[in-house]
Amino acid sequence: MSLPATSKVSFGGDYNPEQWPEDVWQEDYRLFDAARIDTVTLGVFDWALNQTGPDAYDFSVLDRIVERATAQGRRICLATGTGAHPAWLARAYPEVTRTDFEGRRHRFGQRHNSCPSSPAFRRLSTEMARRVARRYAGNPSIVAWHVGNEYGGACYCDLCAGAFRLWLRARYGTLDALNAAWYTTFWSHTLTDWEEIEPPSALTEHWRGPNHTAFQGITLDYLRFMSDAMLTNFRDELAAIRESSPDVPVTTNFMGMYRPIDYHRWAPHLDFVSWDNYPPDDHSPWWMALTHDLMRGLKDGQPFWLMEQTPSYTASRDVNPLKRPGVMRLWSWQAVAHGADAVLFFQMRASRGACEKYHGAVIGHAGRQDTRVFREVAQLGAELERLGPAVLGARTPARVALLFDWDCWWALEISDGPSRHLRYPQIVLTYYRALWDAGVDVDVVPVTADLSRYDVVVAAALHMLKGDLPRRLEEVAERGGSVVTTFLSGRVDENDHAFLMDVPGPLGPLTGIRIDEWDAREPEVVNPVHLQGADTAVEVESRLLFELVIPQGAEVVGTYQSDFYAGTPAVTRNTFGAGDGWYVAAGLDQKGVSWVVRQVLHRHDLIGPYAEVPNLETAVRVAPDGTRLLFLLHHGDVPVETTARTSGVDLLSGERVTRGEPIRLDPRAVMVLREAD
Ligand code: GLA
Ligand code: ZN
Repeated sequence: MSLPATSKVSFGGDYNPEQWPEDVWQEDYRLFDAARIDTVTLGVFDWALNQTGPDAYDFSVLDRIVERATAQGRRICLATGTGAHPAWLARAYPEVTRTDFEGRRHRFGQRHNSCPSSPAFRRLSTEMARRVARRYAGNPSIVAWHVGNEYGGACYCDLCAGAFRLWLRARYGTLDALNAAWYTTFWSHTLTDWEEIEPPSALTEHWRGPNHTAFQGITLDYLRFMSDAMLTNFRDELAAIRESSPDVPVTTNFMGMYRPIDYHRWAPHLDFVSWDNYPPDDHSPWWMALTHDLMRGLKDGQPFWLMEQTPSYTASRDVNPLKRPGVMRLWSWQAVAHGADAVLFFQMRASRGACEKYHGAVIGHAGRQDTRVFREVAQLGAELERLGPAVLGARTPARVALLFDWDCWWALEISDGPSRHLRYPQIVLTYYRALWDAGVDVDVVPVTADLSRYDVVVAAALHMLKGDLPRRLEEVAERGGSVVTTFLSGRVDENDHAFLMDVPGPLGPLTGIRIDEWDAREPEVVNPVHLQGADTAVEVESRLLFELVIPQGAEVVGTYQSDFYAGTPAVTRNTFGAGDGWYVAAGLDQKGVSWVVRQVLHRHDLIGPYAEVPNLETAVRVAPDGTRLLFLLHHGDVPVETTARTSGVDLLSGERVTRGEPIRLDPRAVMVLREAD
């Protein structure tokens, strides 16, 4: 089973009519019609509505909501509603609330608030999923099940401590193996009984916060355990849904680059991936592109759903800027360009009260349709209808892979030394941006992915090396591909133990270097780097971390320009088999990373045809029938004029584009070219 069966890109979003009187519902659907909204996600926070006590279930309101949506011909993504537990549940079973990192047992409040190990939570959330599925399973309007909501956070209670011990027993078998993995000889930590194991928190191994731990191995395993514990919650509900609804796909909404949950470990259990796009700013489209590609990579390139985005503004930030005219449309098409088969909003009508009353919605408090936001939503609805099924199921034909790994992320950011300023997603983003600027399609894949289909594999800050990854990277180079890796790669095994060999450990043969020592400096300290190619040279800056490289066969591509290591290598390239292994030993600035990445892409003739046009993003999807769709997305503020590199028809305007003829893109313009040659 994979994606919900639909005839076009699904359009709509979270709809919570239980928050307002029924006479408004009629009006809601009139407006949905006007905006061509065909899909509603219902019941995401309905637990307290559907269950008022341990044995008191009442689905009458949800019945009417589902009936109305069905009668109105909408597709329904129906939630199990377990993203927030009811007050009575916390009162009846105080164990369901979480204990935080500081050791404080929380009381009833907020949402995403359940202890994943609580038997009462597990039993009652599973029962809710079972009842919702059983009740509505026969309804053909239901195209997807939505379990929970944005799983995340962590709990440190005694129930979680007990579950952690069981998880560790399953992973290590013996205490000896556990002691070895956690390196407990250090600081007299040898454990003599499983009961001595404590969750790593502010009360035990940590100081200053979740990233400062005396034992990386313990903290790493707790992160893995907590992600697995919530996955168990998801799987409990999934199994309960399947009892009565074996054929309708199940998802839960992910959050992109979200550190606490290892989505690679989750993805095999979802029928399809969906995610909520709330970018940190409005001027870094490559951040969203990377995240879309990461989400698409979770299930081997299968399209995903954009489950949430705001049509206008969020409410949860300190400052919540408005999406400028055309931005919501541009970003929606960007999602489709990167693999989304649904464009959904949070939310359809604005809440009147509580902390999201100022969160943007398709329909505002006044219920008008003559607002700019509503008009733009309706225009997008019309465009998606015009597009029809063209894009559904279409895949991205990427020749470049970027590795992303939650273990690497965790291990890097909980490490004492060499620098607390290094942030894994930031490093990965710099490399992704270089690829994005060069206009290449990228698959962002787990370290376990099949790498045999890629010409270029980029592995930034590949701190932890697991399994046969070093060998598989060598194979990429052996058959003529390029592997790019960076500082802080090849340092530790999966227990976060340093390799007893030269850095970069098992990547040594591929990179043809060894790292002798390294230097971390405050962010304002710059070491200029001279990069020298066959016919280009450039001066760039490096910051934060500077590894000192001794070539073991690699050629020098870039050199440090200052300090006692001036003149020594900062970037190297090693011929390996028919291909090569690149190593970037310093925190190069964007210009430097982009230069290196372009050198690599150039060798494989992979630089995109529009790479020189500023702010113009391109992405390709290939439909199941082989049709190539080229998306042109103009993120800039001034019009661009360029020439068409291929001929085709723009499916949005219906206009024909001819290779070699001029095309003009206004700010925030989008074209979806069905290529003819
Ligand atoms: C998340 C949640 C929604 C809502 C939005 C607001 O994505 O899933 O319930 O709170 O944020 O931005
Ligand atoms: Zn707990």
